[in-house]
Amino acid sequence: MLIALLPGDGIGPEVIEQARRVLDAVCGDTLTYEEAPVGGAAYKAHGHPLPPATLDLARRADAILFGAVGDPDCDALERHLRPEQAILGLRKALTLFANLRPAKLFPELADASALRPEVASAIDMVIVRELNGDVYFGEKGMRTTAAGRREGYDVMAYNEDEVARIARVGFETARARNGKLCSVDKANVLETSQLWRDVVIELSADYPDIALSHMYVDNAAMQLVRNPGQFDVIVTGNLFGDILSDQASMCAGSIGMLPSASLDANKKGLYEPIHGSAPDIAGQGKANPLATILSAAMMLRYSLDRGTDADRIEAAVASALANGARSPDLGGTHSTVQMGDAVLAAL
Ligand code: NAD
Ligand code: IPM
Ligand code: MN
Repeated sequence: MLIALLPGDGIGPEVIEQARRVLDAVCGDTLTYEEAPVGGAAYKAHGHPLPPATLDLARRADAILFGAVGDPDCDALERHLRPEQAILGLRKALTLFANLRPAKLFPELADASALRPEVASAIDMVIVRELNGDVYFGEKGMRTTAAGRREGYDVMAYNEDEVARIARVGFETARARNGKLCSVDKANVLETSQLWRDVVIELSADYPDIALSHMYVDNAAMQLVRNPGQFDVIVTGNLFGDILSDQASMCAGSIGMLPSASLDANKKGLYEPIHGSAPDIAGQGKANPLATILSAAMMLRYSLDRGTDADRIEAAVASALANGARSPDLGGTHSTVQMGDAVLAAL
């Protein structure tokens, strides 16, 4: 099995290194790896954030393990050359439309959550985020108004097939869990969301066993902090899912804890932590690698059919936390490497 390793920028290479150590310990030489530059690193070396050779590797690989992209040096570049276009380009080129972002509190981290422990401990949910459409991929640009003022615009759109394919992933994910699906939209204001809601309701006829509810995104943001335990599976669009998943991460202890899988229709996947390149702590050994290590576990489970190995990694992360491993985001002093050491010791 070939794994594409795309470390990227900032803390990306630091967290990928620890995930690689864990994969080596669990899978030995049953996996082979090829690494390629992506993001700002690729722009600096090859003049493009997603060079053809990197995209080719991603296509050839059985699964992709991705760090993070984003580099303040590149923020003034034309948009198509910015590091973020690499991850957006990979999601689109490989039709990775279904982004699963599980948020579960490890009991050992109840004190790290921004919520009171009794509220935080109930969080055990999956956010199913659409990744190939929405305002991210609509027409966008800068123009001048009749009054000669600058105006930026980004068109939000979903067609019914795009909504249906992600809604099905939401229903199926709920079916494999506790049977509750909450569709999050802004149908009180947006036509995009009205279509979203109509299509989800139409599809629900195929899933009579699933308890479907609908929530406006502003309320969902509030409910996520008030009582995160009420959610089993949330299905939502690209932009709302981006925002709600960062918020859910803090309910579960830290943004350094949340993994993700971005899947196509055949379960080919790109696996990455939900966080970014964290330029404020890059190169200082402060990054929490657990989100990336847990992403590697998701890769084994979803793309490589190695659920038992995934379980082993998740159990080792839990033991490392139980044994007191805490990076600074979790209120401790463990370095990135020491967090990796703790997981390896638990394995
Ligand atoms: P960020 O997620 O990089 O960081 C937000 C805050 O969380 C920072 O204070 C950071 O230090 C902290 N943090 C993030 N990951 C951490 C970890 N593993 N351990 C400890 N602390 C961690 O978000 P941002 O600052 O808004 O964005 C920085 C750059 O990353 C931008 O260029 C952005 O576009 C990019 N980004 C990329 C991805 C991705 O590659 N998928 C995701 C989000 C942001
Ligand atoms: C994420 C990130 C990306 C997104 C950016 C870097 C394009 O925030 O993966 O959550 O908005 O999807
Ligand atoms: Mn994000």
